[in-house]
Amino acid sequence: GGFAVVVVAAGSGTRLGRGIPKALVDVSGKSILEHSLERIEASGVTAAHGTWPAGPVVVTVPPGDTELTAVATRHGVRAVEGGATRAASVRHALEQLRSAGCSPRGVLVHDAARCLTPAAVFHRVAAAVAAGQGAVVPVLPVVDTIRRVDEEGSSQGTVDRGLLRAVQTPQGFSWDLLLEVNDAAAGERDERITDDASLVELFSEVPVRTVPGDEAALKVTRPMDLLLAEAILATART
Ligand code: C5P
Repeated sequence: GGFAVVVVAAGSGTRLGRGIPKALVDVSGKSILEHSLERIEASGVTAAHGTWPAGPVVVTVPPGDTELTAVATRHGVRAVEGGATRAASVRHALEQLRSAGCSPRGVLVHDAARCLTPAAVFHRVAAAVAAGQGAVVPVLPVVDTIRRVDEEGSSQGTVDRGLLRAVQTPQGFSWDLLLEVNDAAAGERDERITDDASLVELFSEVPVRTVPGDEAALKVTRPMDLLLAEAILATART
C-alpha cells in the first residue's frame, strides 16, 4: 500500500483494429479502462501502509479525449493528457502529480491494457518496493524459441530462452527514483525505452529486480487477446 498509480491509457489501439482508443474497447460488457481501474481499486494497493500515506491514481488519456476521462471521473480518478509515446505519457502524469504537491513513497506504472492483472501481482511488486527495491518488474518465462535476425530476416541464431523474461506491468518504483530518471531522460527518444524500468537502467545505477508476473496480466493488444481476456473472465465467474 501507500502507492500512487499511473495508468497509461493514451495509446491509439490501432492493432486491435476497432478505430477507438484501446482502453475504450469492450471486454465482456465493460471497457478495458474500467476493468483496470476496478482491479486496482479491489487490490487496495494504493491504501496507506505503515508510515506510507495512501496514494492517488492518475490515468493518461489521448489528447482531446472525453470518454476515457468520463470513466476515470466515475472512478474518482484524475485524467491527464498523454503524450506522443508511452514514456511521454508517464512523464506528463508524473509532472501532474508533482505539481499537485503529491509525494508518495512509491509509484506503480500500469498499462491500462493489462486490464485483468490479479491483485497478487500488484502486491508482489508493491511489497518489493516497500522492502527497499528501487525498481521492480513482474516477469514471465518465455515459452517460444527465440531467434535473433538481421535486417534481411536471416537467422543469427537462437537466444538462450532460459535467461529471457517477458516483462509485464505494474512496474514499481520508489517515487524519487522514477522522478530522477524521468528528469535525466528529459524526453529523449530511444528505441530501448518501451517501459519505465528501461529508464532506470539507462539513467541510473539502481538495479531492476524481478518478481513473478501472471498470465492473466496479458496486454490486450491484438484481436486474439480479446478472446483470451473474455475467456479468463468467463472462467473466473464459474
Ligand atoms: O503500445 P503499447 O501497447 O506498448 O502501449 C502500452 C500502454 O501504454 C497502453 O496501455 C497504451 O494506452 C499506453 N500508451 C500511452 N501513451 C502513448 C502510447 C501508449 O499512454 N502515447
